Amino acid sequence: MRGTLRALFLTASATRAFASCAHGTFLHPREEGGAVEVGKFGYIGSIGPLHWAALDSPANNLCATGTRQSPINMVDGVFTVLQGSDVQLTVNDMPNGADFENLGTTVEVVAQGGTLKVADKQFELQQFHFHLPSEHLDNGTSQAMEMHMVFQSAQKEIAVIGVYINIADQPSSNTTTTTSLSKAAPKRSLPGLTRRESPLAATPLLETLFTSLPAITNPGTRTKTAPLAMGPLVDLLLKGNTFQTYSGSLTTPPCSEGVRWLVSGARLAVTPATFARARDVLGFNARFVQNAPGEPNALMQAAVGTAVAAVEAGAGLAGGRV
Ligand SMILES: *[C@@H]1O[C@H](CO)[C@@H](O)[C@H](O)[C@H]1NC(C)=O
Ligand SMILES: *[C@@H]1O[C@H](CO)[C@@H](O)[C@H](O)[C@H]1NC(C)=O
Repeated sequence: MRGTLRALFLTASATRAFASCAHGTFLHPREEGGAVEVGKFGYIGSIGPLHWAALDSPANNLCATGTRQSPINMVDGVFTVLQGSDVQLTVNDMPNGADFENLGTTVEVVAQGGTLKVADKQFELQQFHFHLPSEHLDNGTSQAMEMHMVFQSAQKEIAVIGVYINIADQPSSNTTTTTSLSKAAPKRSLPGLTRRESPLAATPLLETLFTSLPAITNPGTRTKTAPLAMGPLVDLLLKGNTFQTYSGSLTTPPCSEGVRWLVSGARLAVTPATFARARDVLGFNARFVQNAPGEPNALMQAAVGTAVAAVEAGAGLAGGRV
């Protein structure tokens, strides 16, 4: 069986897995001014998450063998909680708009500066991109979408802020958005009540950004967004917010580990129409939920189970049983 497993995990392939979650970091530098690179991996079938390791072995081996893989179920009360005040975050406004790219595997905004300081480590914002539905589960529950803000340190470490995106109950409004979103943030302060407090207003940043989605419906395309004000997002993430933090991985090939995750309690929201627009472009781009940090990789467990089933099926056939 050892040989079988090795063959399973060491299957080499010439295919490179471009356009990963680490796009724009040292793991996958962005080509300045170049064409938009389209991902060679996917979420369904033979290029889906069950096959990421085989798509480019050994580069992607951790996807099938790593024991600290992401995303995971963010079970209440299990993870270290950081207060917004434990984190320093800046994100530069983009008054002339931002480059917004369709990588095939996600849509991504190229950042124009931003910093994250957490536990005395400083990271620089590279990009933010979107998953549909959410990749992390909020105490067992998937959310409509999830935004990943990807940061890199000078020592080439990666940190990602994950923010759930819910469906809004009302359109965005400049005067009420920030307060209603902040109120929705500390969801654990009201045990027994629904997680989403009403009314949840749509986030102006996302409504503005996703207005540009029709311009990048095809993989490999890029557009310029309207001006993006990032201050309200920073306020939402810092003021009265908490983060569950853990050490995990990229949720795309090469599934590199040692990624510091900060999963935000405060959420963003989009109107139903905007969600539909995002779904039309993203389709489905969430990796399946991985085992808790430190547990065996789910694919290793599955391979053992498959081998056992095969042996039993073989024995059954040999014994003439049906
Ligand atoms: C988290 O999930 C568990 C198991 O389903 C449940 O018992 C618990 O009440 C949930 N916690 C919150 C805050 O919803
Ligand atoms: C809300 O924002 C829009 C677009 O940014 C602006 O045109 C409008 O004047 C703002 N309304 C208020 C009440 O500030």
